[in-house]
Amino acid sequence: MSKSIQLPRGTHDVLPEESPAWQQLEATFRAVCARYNFHEIRTPIFESTELFARSAGESSDILVTKQMYSFVAPDGDSYSLRPEGTAGAVRAYIQHNLNQRGPVSKLFYINSHFRYEAPQAGRYRQHHQCGVELFGADSAESDAEVIALADDFLSALGLRALVKLNTLGTPQSRQGFVAQLRKYLQGREAQLSEDSRKRLELNPLRIFDSKDPRDHQVLEGAPRLLDYLKEHDEASTQHFARVLELLDAFEIRYEIDVNLVRGLDYYSRTAFEFTVEGFGSSIGGGGRYNGLVEELGGPSVPAIGFGMGIERVLLALGESKAQVLAPTAFLVSLGDEARRLAPITLRKLRQAGVRADCDYVGRSLKAQMREANRMKARFALIVGDNEIESNTLAVKNMEASQQDTLSFDDAVAQLLQAQLLQAQSS
Ligand code: HAM
Repeated sequence: MSKSIQLPRGTHDVLPEESPAWQQLEATFRAVCARYNFHEIRTPIFESTELFARSAGESSDILVTKQMYSFVAPDGDSYSLRPEGTAGAVRAYIQHNLNQRGPVSKLFYINSHFRYEAPQAGRYRQHHQCGVELFGADSAESDAEVIALADDFLSALGLRALVKLNTLGTPQSRQGFVAQLRKYLQGREAQLSEDSRKRLELNPLRIFDSKDPRDHQVLEGAPRLLDYLKEHDEASTQHFARVLELLDAFEIRYEIDVNLVRGLDYYSRTAFEFTVEGFGSSIGGGGRYNGLVEELGGPSVPAIGFGMGIERVLLALGESKAQVLAPTAFLVSLGDEARRLAPITLRKLRQAGVRADCDYVGRSLKAQMREANRMKARFALIVGDNEIESNTLAVKNMEASQQDTLSFDDAVAQLLQAQLLQAQSS
């Protein structure tokens, strides 16, 4: 036997019993997006490497820790598997001039993303996100709307989330703060973790994000961005106050987190992460990114969005393995002629809307009935010479052990009725 091939590290299969939880999550997300008038966009799974490099930013985790899966295509150009969803949505927004269709574009996506990270619980090399991007509004109301959508989505799934949020000011006001922070950190570099020392040059703000206790100690007496903005950036401070006022009015559970910075460089003003009790890392995150559309060659259009990690949401919901949807009918064929006709009968059943299956290997009546039982089929449709002659089906209700001989049309009517009742009760 040749050696079997395993899936790549940090990726996972979603087996049939796990799929219903994914489908339910996705359906819930679509339904909530529809209520908020967001519309789906699907962008390629790979784009030019330059798009992701320019959007994530040189101090982002994606670039600093070289997380991109990049490859050179036969045409000699470099492409990368998308590490996140915002860049592709912005690229499409610019390329298709969506700004000309109306002042505001509200998009959502359900995507797979690829990051070369050290795999651990809740952190994968291929992960999925459901996210939204709202282009064309700079108001605190649009921030609150996007946060409310995410919160409604999590509530609809039964999760009680806590939003942690912060304001990052504008690139200009942040620059002033970074200068102050650098001054504070001067002479204290040696006490920082290696990672933070590396970030010092590119983006010292990220040190606030560090989990390393050495960094926490150094930062104890450091200036705080929120305090700095209160003094130097009134517009951002007022914007943030209005966001909080709306979250209060919406009765959304939130907490200001002055250390929240985010791992991507494009954020300005409101930045947030969703957490749930008992789950260590955040299950979703996002924020405002007013400069990105222009930076990527588009018009000067403000935007805000979030991405919710599907695997993390499902982990937070706990194990939920479902029964695989059973076929309504299992076709049992007796004799050569019935076996010869089975594929045709089965196709007609399926075309009529019945979920139906059969035995493929010519087993005995007993073995076929066992298989119908194993699949948890509601009915066995038994066809032998008598049924072929009279153009009927013997319809056996597996639970009630009751059997009727029906015409094909009557059998289909009964099976569809049973299917409908089952769908209504589930
Ligand atoms: P992000 O914080 O990098 O933001 O990712 C969003 C969410 O995706 C995280 O909160 C987490 O739940 C999930 N996630 C990220 N990386 C992994 C991983 N390696 N394994 C499992 N789950 C992961 C963004 O990607 C932004 N594009 C969000 C956004 C949209 N900001 C504005 N618009």
